[in-house]
Amino acid sequence: MEKKTFKAKKRTDYKSPDFTVTNIDLTFELDDTKTKVTTVAHYVRLTQDKKASLVLDGEELVLKSVKVDGVGAKYKEHDNKLEISSVPDEFDLYIENEINPTANTSLMGLYKSDGAFCTQCEPEGFRRITYFLDRSDVLAKYRVKIVGPEYGCGVLLSNGNLIEQGKIKNRPFAVWEDPFPKPSYLFALVAGTFDIVEDTFKTKSGRNVDLKLYVDRGAALRGQFAMQCIKESMKWDEDRFNLEYDLDNFKVVAVDFFNFGAMENKSLNVFNSVYVMVDPDTATDTAFYNVQSVIGHEYFHNYTGDRVTLRDWFELSLKESLTVFRDQEFSSDCANRALTRLHAINVIRSSQFAEDASPMAHPVRPEQVMEMNNFYTVTIYDKGAEVIRMIHTLIGEEKFKKALSYYLEKYDGQAVTIEDFLVCMEEKGEIDLTQFRRWYTQAGTPNVDAKWHYDRENSKLVLKLSQHTNPTPDQSEKQPFFMPIRISFLDKDGHEVRPKELSFKDYIVLNESEQEYTFTLSENVLPVLLCDFSAPIKLNAPYTTENLQHMMSFSADPFIKVDSAVNMQKQYVHENIKNLKNGAAVTDPIELISSYRQLLSTVDENTDLILLNETMKIQSVSSLMETFDHIEIDQLSAARTMLVNKIACALEKEFKNLYSKVRASSANYSVDNMGRRSVNNSALHMIVTALCFKNEHSKASDLVMNHYKNSNNMTDKLQALTDATHFDLACKSAIHDDFEKRYSNNALAFDNFFRANATVESYKAIDNVKALMKHPSYDGNNPNRVRALVGALALSNPVALNDISGDGYRLLCSEVKRLNSINASVAARILTPMLSFSRFDSQRESMIRQELKNLMALPNLSKSIYEKVDAALKER
Ligand code: PHE
Ligand code: ZN
Repeated sequence: MEKKTFKAKKRTDYKSPDFTVTNIDLTFELDDTKTKVTTVAHYVRLTQDKKASLVLDGEELVLKSVKVDGVGAKYKEHDNKLEISSVPDEFDLYIENEINPTANTSLMGLYKSDGAFCTQCEPEGFRRITYFLDRSDVLAKYRVKIVGPEYGCGVLLSNGNLIEQGKIKNRPFAVWEDPFPKPSYLFALVAGTFDIVEDTFKTKSGRNVDLKLYVDRGAALRGQFAMQCIKESMKWDEDRFNLEYDLDNFKVVAVDFFNFGAMENKSLNVFNSVYVMVDPDTATDTAFYNVQSVIGHEYFHNYTGDRVTLRDWFELSLKESLTVFRDQEFSSDCANRALTRLHAINVIRSSQFAEDASPMAHPVRPEQVMEMNNFYTVTIYDKGAEVIRMIHTLIGEEKFKKALSYYLEKYDGQAVTIEDFLVCMEEKGEIDLTQFRRWYTQAGTPNVDAKWHYDRENSKLVLKLSQHTNPTPDQSEKQPFFMPIRISFLDKDGHEVRPKELSFKDYIVLNESEQEYTFTLSENVLPVLLCDFSAPIKLNAPYTTENLQHMMSFSADPFIKVDSAVNMQKQYVHENIKNLKNGAAVTDPIELISSYRQLLSTVDENTDLILLNETMKIQSVSSLMETFDHIEIDQLSAARTMLVNKIACALEKEFKNLYSKVRASSANYSVDNMGRRSVNNSALHMIVTALCFKNEHSKASDLVMNHYKNSNNMTDKLQALTDATHFDLACKSAIHDDFEKRYSNNALAFDNFFRANATVESYKAIDNVKALMKHPSYDGNNPNRVRALVGALALSNPVALNDISGDGYRLLCSEVKRLNSINASVAARILTPMLSFSRFDSQRESMIRQELKNLMALPNLSKSIYEKVDAALKER
């Protein structure tokens, strides 16, 4: 068999384009299987080399005609390129080609999502529409004519302003013009029949912006919340960053088939319907919260991404990290700061640290890429956002705002680099970021060790920090990073004290391998390190359990409070994995129980319930995994289960109290209700845990059944469904029947059913997934269904995936194999957890290797999967 290989591109190989396009005129004659695309684009030579031919990108196109300035041209079609030689310095290029939207299951380019036509062009989807200079540094003005399909069509949409519409021979058409030059990845077209939610927004300068949200027919009510979020986003960007919307209309379309979350196409955002369609009956509070954040994210791209765009895809984090930072600030200001921060930190410490420890580890600005779709990662997005946050910490809000405005004005309408951004931050932030740039060039998670002692003679607390970063596959030597470590001090009564060394700021800078700091303080003051998780690192500080309890009770910083509880949990799990292995007796989490008891005893109407819930939450298996280099999954999950059982049993009375005390007053989403429901549902879970541990399953079942029956919203129903399923309670079949009856015709709501079944923490999950793949509501071609079922097993159920039978691996890989030719991008994503086999025992490692080798031998292996499997098998 011939071995398939693909070549990676290198960041440093960037060359500016030989030609650019100033204007492009696109005509689509839509048809399910034979859409005709006609383009007339004005090309201008940029290179001095008069002989350089024009080389365009194109994939899966049926080329019909090519003309240069109206005359048939000589061209060659090869390897997904169209090469036209001897072209003048400036010319109009006419291209006619055909595409087949129905056959397009990759969901890149023009495809059909249920009945509607829609496009996805980031990063390299435009080349599946027509031959073009499909690169982000070619910015053109677009004029788009869409002729609807012969069978008729509701709306015809593209970027910018509608300038004409009518009928040609009974077929509707519309012409759109976007006044802002843009790269091809921001082009969009949507055609279909939708219900429309309409509203307007008055900008700060008094312009009225026409807002339209396009959703499935009959579902307009479920789009109301998203519309509110659009207006909130527009207002927030004006208030916080002085950024006013720049067109007279803004359109958002919700589609059912979509590879990622949503897409920021200029004035025509296309969304995965998950991030639009919510109401209390069908969507959880978390889903509502996510709608707000993703609507914000895509809207904020209008400046950070669209108006100022990327030179090339290695710079992806330039737009994504900055926009994630902005959407996090939006959620912080408009929903809840602590919750937003804690979620973001959790993503870093579970998923991003896992990525850093994997064969696909890469810096925030990668050096080489084979398949760009593989780089929409937590490193590029979320670690990138932490890096931006560090700059914000270092220079402060005012300078950050100034620097951002300066960057957006200076580079308006241009395609730029992370370096350009950093220079603006340096200039207006009055800071030297030379060493700081290592965050962009070095992959891996820095480990920071802390030690301190008290120097009585001089009345100083002496703090020593050291840092080291493990090698990653791409880099064996790491230089020290530059990072702000936020710090505060608690005296023994729990009061915050401030040494004179920190009178102007609340952080110290760590930028060497080893550093010492002194603070003028009295004795017995505790340094509280890494407040607000001020750097994306693993901190190793010698806190005693007493110290942790103290910080949990008295720190004003939500992260420190929660993290102190988390650290106690981790200590317990680590200790008892050892005990389990040595056959020693397991211990009781006495201090954790007493801290939690204390916390629960003080709950009243003033309690911050969101923070309470986060503090009480027991860390997931996935995030506990990231506190180990070598993962012993069975022991880890056993130790975690013991921890949950012990806490649940010890505090059963308190949880029962809490359960009846804290209930949300209405089904509607609000941050207040979200807090109430989360505490109420966590209490239910703990009571059920305790009852099941004591073998009182029927009591547990009654309680869960009641919870389900009395619920008027998806958040509560899902908790009941999940507990019934995970504990295999008697009420399970009744709840399953009811849930199926109610929701099996609402795909998004029903994904909760798939997820609940796929996340049972045992072998059972594998059987569930196999069975549900045959469920009438399942569709193996729809990424949302795949993610809810097989994806949940892969990404949210490490215990079942890594079952020692190897059946989890086999099931996942058979799906990856099936998806390889349907949607390689989704396939490659769900495969991710199997790449890190070297962190597991040799038995699991060899089973995974075998599965990966089988994938590698596929005759039609996609580039996406090849890149990841190759990286994994190459390691060691
Ligand atoms: N650019 C999108 C975002 O806002 C993500 C995306 C990438 C969507 C590629 C679709 C395809 O993050
Ligand atoms: Zn984005």
